[in-house]
Amino acid sequence: MYRSSSTSNALPAGIYPPELIESFAPRLIAWQRKHGRHDLPWQNTRDAYRIWLSEIMLQQTQVGTVIPYYARFLERFPTVEALAAAPLDDVMALWAGLGYYTRARNLHRCAQVVAQEHGGRFPSTVEGLAELPGIGRSTAAAIASFAFGARATILDGNVKRVLARVYGVEGFPGEKRVENAMWTLAESIVPGADASDADVSAYTQGLMDLGATLCGRGKPDCARCPFAADCVANTTGRQRELPAARPKKTVPTRRTWMLVLLDGDAVMLEKRPPTGIWGGLWSLPEAADEAALAERAQSFGGAGQASPLAPFSHTFTHFKLDIEPRVVELALKASSTSALELNDGQTAWVPLREIDAFGVPAPVRKLLDGLRGSLI
Ligand code: ADE
Repeated sequence: MYRSSSTSNALPAGIYPPELIESFAPRLIAWQRKHGRHDLPWQNTRDAYRIWLSEIMLQQTQVGTVIPYYARFLERFPTVEALAAAPLDDVMALWAGLGYYTRARNLHRCAQVVAQEHGGRFPSTVEGLAELPGIGRSTAAAIASFAFGARATILDGNVKRVLARVYGVEGFPGEKRVENAMWTLAESIVPGADASDADVSAYTQGLMDLGATLCGRGKPDCARCPFAADCVANTTGRQRELPAARPKKTVPTRRTWMLVLLDGDAVMLEKRPPTGIWGGLWSLPEAADEAALAERAQSFGGAGQASPLAPFSHTFTHFKLDIEPRVVELALKASSTSALELNDGQTAWVPLREIDAFGVPAPVRKLLDGLRGSLI
């Protein structure tokens, strides 16, 4: 494992190579200037209104989708005052198709706050911006850096991916503890006090560009990455493992024994109670343990040792079911050639080839299909 205590050059968790902290911003800025995006419609402006509008639209939506909406909004609402003065219905209508409509309502409210309480001028600090409706910490930093040259860091999903890979940050970034550690890391690598406003813009844009292009989720293009030589994910071949995926919900496990009672090629099915899992379907008779299974088998006329089939599991929304199938042969064979329902419709002898005519839960059906294959 990376950073194990037996590795001679290992650093304690949360401590990153100082040269990679110091060199990150200059390397990213140089890369952005040469290989980043420079002609997006919201670039090459310091107009906070235009930058804010683009950042809100880009929050959960791809660049290609945003571009025509952005143009239509600016044409219709060229200033924050124009947007603030418009009826909400007009804003919603123009937003239609972009999704996440809370963004549009917040956009309108934010425009009104800026127009009425800030004299039409957006606050220039991260803190001031983050107080406005619809502007979180990362969006505030994007606006502050693009419009006002603030040395503030963004941390959206793309940036989390870049940082997790370059610095080998373990854990799921959606988890608060990991996210907090990433904010600390992100803040430690922003450009220094000597950076110009243009450097700051290139840095923020560079983070976005790297995450959206070379360091994409699928197959990162490490050969072209400015951090290839130092990136933990690249140098240890862990691009697919970093950042860590959302942990699977742990669900309780239940165990059940299923009786595969055979009479020639016919199996006994039992109708399940109308409610609960597989409600109303035909399934194998079940028991809570091995002994209870033997008892049930006997009560149906089964004889001899129960022979186990391979156990398998099925995951429901709220629990996992471990299934132990046991085959028992009928003592007195009375094979019928077609399905036969018994005892007021609660049990039935069903030839394996006729299983399809009964509503049988998929995993049980798979088991029976396999059994049929082995009996033929
Ligand atoms: N995603 C969020 N902000 C962006 C920006 N300014 N340019 C490109 N993609 C973005």
